[in-house]
Amino acid sequence: MLLIVVGTRPQHIKLASLARALNRQGIEYVVVHTGQHYDYELDEIFFEELDLPRPIAHLGVGSGSHGYQTGTMLMRLEKVYKRFKPKMIIVPGDTNSALAGALAGVKMGFPIAHVEAGLRSRLPYMAEEVNRVLIDHVSEMLFAPTEYAYANLLKEGIDFSRIFLTGDVMADNIILFEKRIDEIFNEFHGEKYVYVTVHRAENTDNYLRLRNIVKALVKLSKEQDFTVVFPLHPRTQNKLSEYGLLNTLRNAENIKLMKPVGYVKSLRYARDARIVLTDSGGLQKEAFILRTPIVTLRETTEWIETVECGWNIPVGPDSSRIVEAVSTLLEKELPEVDPLKFYGSGRASERIANLVREYLS
Ligand code: UD1
Ligand code: UDP
Repeated sequence: MLLIVVGTRPQHIKLASLARALNRQGIEYVVVHTGQHYDYELDEIFFEELDLPRPIAHLGVGSGSHGYQTGTMLMRLEKVYKRFKPKMIIVPGDTNSALAGALAGVKMGFPIAHVEAGLRSRLPYMAEEVNRVLIDHVSEMLFAPTEYAYANLLKEGIDFSRIFLTGDVMADNIILFEKRIDEIFNEFHGEKYVYVTVHRAENTDNYLRLRNIVKALVKLSKEQDFTVVFPLHPRTQNKLSEYGLLNTLRNAENIKLMKPVGYVKSLRYARDARIVLTDSGGLQKEAFILRTPIVTLRETTEWIETVECGWNIPVGPDSSRIVEAVSTLLEKELPEVDPLKFYGSGRASERIANLVREYLS
């Protein structure tokens, strides 16, 4: 039987797509939840909304340093793997949960499959980059979401027989959810608004970078008349509060702070926004697919095709450059592209399920 390890919001969303394809093909699997995310809005909301398969084990690891989190997951996963003796372990994404899932498994001799293999930011000390590189190099099957990701793996010397260009499992979801996105209520529909998410450690745990992002949002709302729709990741909320920046946002009339929202709501907010401003990996690509231009609040991105097509400007947290990038994207005519052609046209999970079935047989 297959075992899938998840633990965080973006992994739950990727699980939705994988589970559908595995179910369709009648491939047996179980899900293990590390407990890295545990607030309702980062966790249970997705199990309910996306009707996800319930985990057979919940490791309850929670928050802490990288060492605590990864180490505790390793110890607890070993016990689960021993009990279930999976034929293959699937880890989606690049979080500490994915790293622990892969590392614990490979050391016990279980084959690992990495969903979203080969993405690179070229920032060697970024936590997610460390995780991705390590996972890719211990994986038996590597499912690359884009041609760039595929090429990155070849360049790193991984044998081509283990790498598969499948497309992106998150793109599958968007296609399937088109109608649900249309139907969900958006209280900001028709307003001139930007949709913002921030949670990267590089931004939240650095006072100057976070202050500059806040400054840019205030400028956009006060000087350019944008409503700013901003669901706060708990990490960001804590840091804004610690740095004394939360009230600046709260006191700005057109900045709408809220708890993290559900998945379909997030897609709807992204679809109707004039611009998405984000440091999220997943949301950049979703906005592109939904044809909303993106200002990436990081210096680099793993989703290079979004930049090459002219729809995404990575700027890093410089307040004037953020505001400038918003104007640039609104003023210029963006090239006509079919974003889905970069991401596998909605069949990524189906391809992954086929490949896994062949491997297992
Ligand atoms: C993690 C991933 C990141 C991913 C993100 C998705 C790593 C190293 N980082 O970042 O790659 O993009 O998830 O959202 O794996 N917290 C809560 N409630 C929760 C979860 C977290 O309050 O349910 C707070 C805690 O104070 C915690 C902090 O958020 O210390 C950070 O959580 P953590 O899981 O360590 O990292 P994320 O920033 O969520
Ligand atoms: N998302 C969500 N609610 C929110 C913010 C984001 O459902 O309030 C979704 C978003 O649409 C995308 C995913 O969460 O599908 C991205 O997760 P996140 O930004 O936490 O992680 P990353 O992709 O950066 O690893």
